[in-house]
Amino acid sequence: MTIENRVVRYKDLKPCTNAFIDTRSPGSDKKENFTVIGPGVAENPDQHVHISIPHGFNIGGARQPAGCLNSQHSHLTEEVFVIHTGKWDFISGIKADDGRVSLESGDIISIPMDIFRGFECIEGLPQGEHKGLGYLHAVLGGDEPGRVLWAPSVFEMAKDFGLILMEDGSLVDTTLGEEVPSDKKPMPVTSSEQIAEHRVVGSDALEGIVIRTKDFDWRNDTVLSQFEGVEETSLVGGDSELEGITASKLCWKHGFVVRGLKLQANAEVPVHTRAEEEVIFVHEGELTVDVDGEQVTLIAGDNFTTPLSAKRSFSNLSNKECVAYITRRGDEPKTPIFS
Ligand SMILES: [Fe+2]
Repeated sequence: MTIENRVVRYKDLKPCTNAFIDTRSPGSDKKENFTVIGPGVAENPDQHVHISIPHGFNIGGARQPAGCLNSQHSHLTEEVFVIHTGKWDFISGIKADDGRVSLESGDIISIPMDIFRGFECIEGLPQGEHKGLGYLHAVLGGDEPGRVLWAPSVFEMAKDFGLILMEDGSLVDTTLGEEVPSDKKPMPVTSSEQIAEHRVVGSDALEGIVIRTKDFDWRNDTVLSQFEGVEETSLVGGDSELEGITASKLCWKHGFVVRGLKLQANAEVPVHTRAEEEVIFVHEGELTVDVDGEQVTLIAGDNFTTPLSAKRSFSNLSNKECVAYITRRGDEPKTPIFS
């Protein structure tokens, strides 16, 4: 696999507009869903998977215009969102009326499994090719994160618009003349017992699972940030003594960690290796990654998966600050080894 094949560029993202049961429902029918790395949880087998290498987590994305809603649901793994562009509200509760929290560019939220959640783009970009749209970078745990558990109202509304969800996760589109195959059964509507396994979480508690950019604890004394012009912050994950990392507010076990990395103009993290998969998502600026002597430059919105155990270095060759969010496998990644 070439280095360029390990990049998923924002401009080349292939959306699926009918990935989920609610994609016809008014208010939810304008969402674009992206499976960037790993199989994700889409209910449409035609969804394009950009990179299918198992990482122990899945990277996805959602792009929506203001007013577009992603319906109430829960997952069998943790779900983390980074606001890349726009303003977004996250809404808790089976009926979307338990709580609400508003996030802006760069903010991060980690939603545990036992909360029904939905999200709505409140404000999109003011200009440019994606004017009016907002983009969320998403991380789901596990190599097989399992199916989405939808709120009962989502099934009812989907049926009105011709979509039926099957037990195996696929969708039957009756508007295309499709019928429920004889060997398949529709997914039973989420039961009151399943709903009872979820918590009622109000707006204050939602704030407890958010870290806003103004509260990021940027450090220059971690193993990765010991170099001039480099800072690191712990966003998802516990203490990591070997890396010099202290626990984030979002420190319960996710099966992955998320760190913020900031490089000033001309700053560099020199050649090092790692023991686990890492995916770099560039949020702002440009980051040049050197992998075993080959270079690739990532810009805002691009994702890159570094080959396991490759010798890598990161540099900011531009004249503006670069901010990246890096996801790594496991709750306790090993320290980087500098050569
Ligand atoms: Fe989700």
